[in-house]
Amino acid sequence: MHFKPWTAWSLLASLVSFWAVADAADSGILEVDLLFPRNETYAPTEWIPYVFSIQNAKLAKYLVPLIRYDVWNLTEGGGSFGYTHQNLRWANWSSHDPYFVHHFHSGLQEGRWRLNWEFGYASCNEHWTGLSSVGDPVNYNRTVGSIEFTIQAGGPAVDVVAATANDKTCSNENGVAINITGKTREVPPLNEEMPDNTCVVVGSPQPTPTPCQVKVDSAVAASMTASLRAKLCDPLTSTNRPADCPEDNAAQKLAVAGVACLAVAVGMFGFLA
Ligand SMILES: *[C@@H]1O[C@H](CO)[C@@H](O)[C@H](O)[C@H]1NC(C)=O
Ligand SMILES: *[C@@H]1O[C@H](CO)[C@@H](O)[C@H](O)[C@H]1NC(C)=O
Ligand SMILES: *[C@@H]1O[C@H](CO)[C@@H](O)[C@H](O)[C@H]1NC(C)=O
Ligand SMILES: *[C@@H]1O[C@H](CO)[C@@H](O)[C@H](O)[C@H]1NC(C)=O
Ligand SMILES: *[C@@H]1O[C@H](CO)[C@@H](O)[C@H](O)[C@H]1NC(C)=O
Repeated sequence: MHFKPWTAWSLLASLVSFWAVADAADSGILEVDLLFPRNETYAPTEWIPYVFSIQNAKLAKYLVPLIRYDVWNLTEGGGSFGYTHQNLRWANWSSHDPYFVHHFHSGLQEGRWRLNWEFGYASCNEHWTGLSSVGDPVNYNRTVGSIEFTIQAGGPAVDVVAATANDKTCSNENGVAINITGKTREVPPLNEEMPDNTCVVVGSPQPTPTPCQVKVDSAVAASMTASLRAKLCDPLTSTNRPADCPEDNAAQKLAVAGVACLAVAVGMFGFLA
């Protein structure tokens, strides 16, 4: 390669100058948990909700968080049954805490099912100096988990409020706690997806998740149901509107607007066939 040495140095210098310590951000433990389903049996249902919560949600601002999951039919001879992801980059983290992410899935027949989930996030590589030998300025980490559940006639009806109120079926295997130190760094604008070209330094140790302290109350559950109904009734996106949808969808939209702050309903892309 043939370029004047000062070009390289000035390029390096400009990269390094980006690697300044930016203003301190909030620090604390951000936690993502799969709240529902649990290791339980449920009666057949047209729509089953998958519910995640994010505690201390305001700390998520610079993480570029992503929740991804797929569903497997564990009945002998079954296979992959659905996949979706929710890019939470545009979420309003100051709107609610905990912040609930949910998704309704249809078509689960009686049998045994597995939900595999993944939470991905970005953080600063503290050792990055601008030289490629120490890796990239930003790390992308992921945590995975999975839960199995059964759909069977005679089982109790799906009830997210009751399930999350029951501490006995709650395990901390389906969550991840991330230690956000409050230190942030500026990264080169090469990392276009980083908000404000800023990432946060993640400390260690990573604490043990505490999913059992999150409960879905009936107001949150009702808002999730309302968002599902609004989706199903939306004449623009729904291919199979229930007969009892209001003629004028405006009233429905208004009702959901009031609860949108409680729960993000990005859901259903992967599944609504
Ligand atoms: C699921 O629940 C069953 C019955 O309560 C129990 O025997 C089993 O160990 C649980 N599995 C996991 C992975 O927690
Ligand atoms: C799950 O797999 C079984 C066995 O192949 C099949 O009979 C059943 O229809 C599958 N269920 C769904 C909802 O795809
Ligand atoms: C985010 O939520 C807060 C609290 O509900 C609200 O005041 C603010 O306007 C929202 N921000 C945006 C960009 O919607
Ligand atoms: C995140 O990923 C980086 C790079 O692969 C790794 O060095 C670091 O230990 C990971 N951090 C956590 C908390 O897993
Ligand atoms: C979070 O990380 C910092 C710095 O690495 C460490 O001092 C602190 O003890 C950690 N906090 C928890 C709750 O583990």
